[in-house]
Amino acid sequence: MRFDILTLFPGLFDGFLSESILKNAIEARKVQVVRHDFRQWATDRHHSVDDRPFGGGPGMVLKAEPVVQCVREVQETEGLTPGKLVMFTPQGTPLRQKRVEELAGEERLLLLCGRYEGFDERIRDVLQPEEVSLGDYVLNGGEVAAMALIEAVMRLLPGVLGDELSSHHDSHSGASRLLEAPQYTRPREFEGLTVPEILLSGDHKKIEQWREEQSRLRTQERRPELFEEK
Ligand code: 6GU
Repeated sequence: MRFDILTLFPGLFDGFLSESILKNAIEARKVQVVRHDFRQWATDRHHSVDDRPFGGGPGMVLKAEPVVQCVREVQETEGLTPGKLVMFTPQGTPLRQKRVEELAGEERLLLLCGRYEGFDERIRDVLQPEEVSLGDYVLNGGEVAAMALIEAVMRLLPGVLGDELSSHHDSHSGASRLLEAPQYTRPREFEGLTVPEILLSGDHKKIEQWREEQSRLRTQERRPELFEEK
């Protein structure tokens, strides 16, 4: 799977791409990540990518020409499908595991990261991107959201986690989409707190039932709305 990141701050991804699971997945050629700095598509002599908003108001707005030109050129990369375009803004649909699973089926994703007060509206009009938010709070730009999407998607790709099944047990995944049950490892006692006896019993059927019950209880307590949703 290939991710193309379109951003004014490609350097923000340096550490993200060079550590841990994602680094290994890139080295194993399970994923490819290419960054594009849309300042390189600026046409005027100051290489400006933003300007003051018509009608006044605070902040700056990302200009249509460099962003649209950048997206089009990246889409038209020789030998590749144009890919699915995702734009990151706080006005998008909050990202959920279900959508992550669907996006993991794409061959190529183009991730357009906003900054400043936002995108000139005509960028949306012309490119018709899917708009994604990370949640109802404000970030300085879409880069952290793009990282979240890349990480959530790549860990679902075959062979990336090594243990093929480990992502199936995560909170929010699988058929039930409930939160995960509590987990313990050694030592058996920590600061007077012990491990639930059932987990030491070796009775896998009972353990499975206990985990399902804990999962339901935890979800009911913390995220009751997850039961309402399909
Ligand atoms: Cl995708 N961008 C910005 N700037 N803020 C956000 C966001 C994205 N998602 C939540 N807050």
